Amino acid sequence: NAEPKISIHPGPTLLAASVASRLITRLVDVQNERGTATVVLTGGSIGTAALKAVWESPTCRTVDWSQVHFWWGDERFLPAGHPDRNAVQAREALLDRLAVDPAKVHEFGSSDQFPDQYAAAADYAARLQEAADAEALDGAADPRLPRFDVLMLGVGPDAHIASLFPELAGIRTKGSTVVGVADAPKPPPERISLTLESIRSAEEVWLAVAGEDKAGAVGLALAGAGSVQVPAAGARGRNKTLWLIDQEAAVQLPGR
Ligand code: 6PG
Repeated sequence: NAEPKISIHPGPTLLAASVASRLITRLVDVQNERGTATVVLTGGSIGTAALKAVWESPTCRTVDWSQVHFWWGDERFLPAGHPDRNAVQAREALLDRLAVDPAKVHEFGSSDQFPDQYAAAADYAARLQEAADAEALDGAADPRLPRFDVLMLGVGPDAHIASLFPELAGIRTKGSTVVGVADAPKPPPERISLTLESIRSAEEVWLAVAGEDKAGAVGLALAGAGSVQVPAAGARGRNKTLWLIDQEAAVQLPGR
């Protein structure tokens, strides 16, 4: 997987704008090659601000939004429509404003549809497998997953990514693409997350991080820490790993 590249921005607003313009460019480039593009979205303040910035961008309509698949890296196991669901926030910020194809919006199942987060995780894994089978790509990164052209992540102050928290079962999970989480230290404890191996199957992984409280996590991740202790350290794309950070998050980078 690709060594991390780092791009430092003056502050969170410009960071979100930069993520938005890169995302638009990436989707247009992929669509020019293949028609359909696939993005994995993140929750969190930067991820959501980036989606708002996509909507506000003068080049927003250069993307054919009806030909984009949307998946999510993780979700809180809550009822459909709950304001703390990443999918609800993404819909408000961008998706509901665009002519997206509802059949290409792949939300995690909710707590009113599934008895528990494990059942919702199994359902998401099955839908990912179905999408992978439909693509039937030669040389697919992982036969259980569709091709993820870009996968976006936020990073917590404890260096968690998606709902994979340091030292817990989720980050240690091997052999499955999606995991049900019962013990997230941030509420709610019940969540659903892609596993690290799924994240690493993406062509490009982008980590968008702002603020001084993230500086320690960014420093450790980019100093080559282990991914069980520092999950963000393990987040790498096959072709590109891009850390998009602001100056405050950069103060503990190795060599600064
Ligand atoms: C959660 C949080 C968390 C968030 C990161 C990055 O899981 O409860 O939403 O995962 O995405 O902490 O958040 P920011 O983009 O706000 O820094």
